Amino acid sequence: MADWANIWIALVLVAGSMQKSAMRKPSRPRRSVLYVPASNAKALAKVVSLAADAVIFDLEDAVAPNAKEDAREALRDYFRTNPTSTAERIIRINALASEWGAEDLLAARACKPDAILLPKVETPQDVTNVTEVLEETDASEHVRLWAMIETPRGIVNADEIAELGLRSTGRLDCFVVGTNDLAKDTGTSLGQGRAYLVPWLMQIVLCAKAGNIDVIDGVYNDFADAQGFTAECTQGVQMGFNGKTLIHPAQIETANRAFQPDEAALAQARAIVAAFALPENAGKGAIALDGKMVERLHLDHATTLLEKGQKSPS
Ligand code: COA
Ligand code: MG
Repeated sequence: MADWANIWIALVLVAGSMQKSAMRKPSRPRRSVLYVPASNAKALAKVVSLAADAVIFDLEDAVAPNAKEDAREALRDYFRTNPTSTAERIIRINALASEWGAEDLLAARACKPDAILLPKVETPQDVTNVTEVLEETDASEHVRLWAMIETPRGIVNADEIAELGLRSTGRLDCFVVGTNDLAKDTGTSLGQGRAYLVPWLMQIVLCAKAGNIDVIDGVYNDFADAQGFTAECTQGVQMGFNGKTLIHPAQIETANRAFQPDEAALAQARAIVAAFALPENAGKGAIALDGKMVERLHLDHATTLLEKGQKSPS
């Protein structure tokens, strides 16, 4: 009887660990994520020459109400003439419930970006509503969803929202923090190293990690202040963010450098992957490497790090 119980527990544990390792998604570097107002022709034209890992083409806050239609048209033209890109491309639409949301979603879907970014997400339903529209219109599964967490309610519900990242059929890939909206809605200052925002930012980071999705830090508004921007990038790295949203090309290089895994960490990751690939280690859960224990969870982490570190600092 005791033997059967042991076998049963072992099977449950193996199934659990297989499920966990199956959950690991392929990663892309998202060190620098540049907002580009879709209504700004000059900025749009500049995108192809920039070294940002990802670009968010904005139809929301950066576009005035009377320019929304032209901005959508400009985006359609842009994606028609630039069908491929080395940078990940995301389109931020207005909220589905707003007067522009439905048209934005149709336009964004037609552009076939890597992802659509939803503003002011406050409940899982805000994401699943858009998922349903994408499913009903047979949008390619390659079109992912990113969610802005930028309101008090969004933070309170961040755990439930991030859980969508664990669904194999879900499209949620990434949280983006909207620090300007958060500061506005809560009366919190963005100064002093964001001291009063940090607890909420950490909560968002934690929820994203629990949901196995990436999380990108908010923007630094003073794009002429290189020193302040560098300090905030360093803070973002230490807090566990995968990258930073940017408003100006001058911020790209600093973000790429700050969020790039360092060479020592990459070398260690290569060593772990090589060690687990040895025939004598096949099927082993834990091995010794340079006198230290290394487990398969370290292999997952190493693989992710190497995927993210593919691009060298620009
Ligand atoms: N993306 C691409 N190119 C940009 C850019 C951006 N976000 N911001 C500026 N540029 C370009 C300019 O068009 C200009 O191009 P040029 O060399 O061909 O003349 C060059 O970079 C230098 O720009 P600069 O003159 O320093 O700034 P600006 O006055 O043109 O623009 C802002 C300043 C803040 C209006 C602009 O950076 C911007 O709109 N940023 C994004 C705002 C946004 O999306 N907000 C919503 C999310 S918070
Ligand atoms: Mg906002």
